[in-house]
Amino acid sequence: MWHYFDHEDLAAVKEVLDRGQLGTIGVAPALQALQDAFCQEFDSPCAMGVCNAMAGLHAAVAAAGAGAGDEVVVDPLVGFGAIAVLFNNAIPVFADVRRDTHTMAPDSLRERISERTKAVIVTQLWGLIADMDEIMEIAKEHDLLVIEDCAHAIYATYNGEYAGTIGDVGVFSFQESKQLSTGDGGIVLYKDPEVGRRMNEMVTFGTMPKRIALNYRMTEVTAAIARVQLKKTPGYIDICIKSAGYYNDAVADTDLIVPQFVPEGRVNTYHLWASTYEGDEQGLSFDEFQRIAEEHDVSFMWRYIQKVPYLHDVIRQPIAFGRGCPIECPLRARDAMYYEGLCPNAEEIMSRLMLTSTGGNPDDHARTAENLRKAIEAAEG
Ligand SMILES: Cc1ncc(COP(=O)(O)O)c(C=O)c1O
Repeated sequence: MWHYFDHEDLAAVKEVLDRGQLGTIGVAPALQALQDAFCQEFDSPCAMGVCNAMAGLHAAVAAAGAGAGDEVVVDPLVGFGAIAVLFNNAIPVFADVRRDTHTMAPDSLRERISERTKAVIVTQLWGLIADMDEIMEIAKEHDLLVIEDCAHAIYATYNGEYAGTIGDVGVFSFQESKQLSTGDGGIVLYKDPEVGRRMNEMVTFGTMPKRIALNYRMTEVTAAIARVQLKKTPGYIDICIKSAGYYNDAVADTDLIVPQFVPEGRVNTYHLWASTYEGDEQGLSFDEFQRIAEEHDVSFMWRYIQKVPYLHDVIRQPIAFGRGCPIECPLRARDAMYYEGLCPNAEEIMSRLMLTSTGGNPDDHARTAENLRKAIEAAEG
């Protein structure tokens, strides 16, 4: 835990408790203030607090009108978008990523679109925004709703524009590990009030919903803390960027490890520092390097979720709803595409991926980065 909570957070919570209303059905001053603050900070016309980012993604896919037999293009290095699509009874179609940036490859997106595609969920991965100019152009050609998954990317920019404000919908997570954290929570930025109305049907209903919905409301207490934490988030991000710098420096002179590439015009906010191990071509296996690194007290997340999401049973089998739904839905236009080799770059990256968090004390990261440098030296012999 590296976020700090002080008198300002306490005062904000006390204000809610003094009012005596903790829920957000109807008038909800803390939630309204948070939504206004997000709109102002990120120059977005509309915002909607939610209980977590998965709820926001679920509601956004529903707002795109995706249901049985419909398709939504998603990223292949994280599973969140795909799960949100499955939960809408629709079919996730994986586009490959760029080998250097780890973010969605526009050419692959174009290739994966069919007449059933309703939306694309672009993950602004590890803190870096994808090739949004190209992605927006393709989406416009095919009339797709562009949903940015910004769980990693609050305050990340792309030619000066903030993550979550380039597409139609931007979904943020306030989960414990994120740069803005309230333990759990999230917010969705959006432009079109009609999209907002449809998402709101999923997020809150009084007694009977208009469609299948579960209530994804944020509470007043969470909103009050989030509003104070929003002000502190740029400070947290400075720490992450500084810490990532130590790791980038540690690998600057080696070919063994290649950090996530940041194209010009983008600010990576480094929710995670990501790199791939490339030393096997020089005769040293990833397993062997991991052993050497751990001997040097470097404990990274090695290979993240081990294999790409579409090779995990919950998607591939498919066991999401049992009996093959929604992947084997009779309304589908084509057979599901979940096989090894589908997204070669993503598979290659996953098998080589080294991740580490960047929050906390930068001095700790400086020490770990120095250990990494020594591990590289030892590996290079
Ligand atoms: C990229 C991405 N999207 C979505 C989520 C889901 O966030 P939440 O836990 O707020 O539902 C996460 C959580 O780790 C994430 O990393």
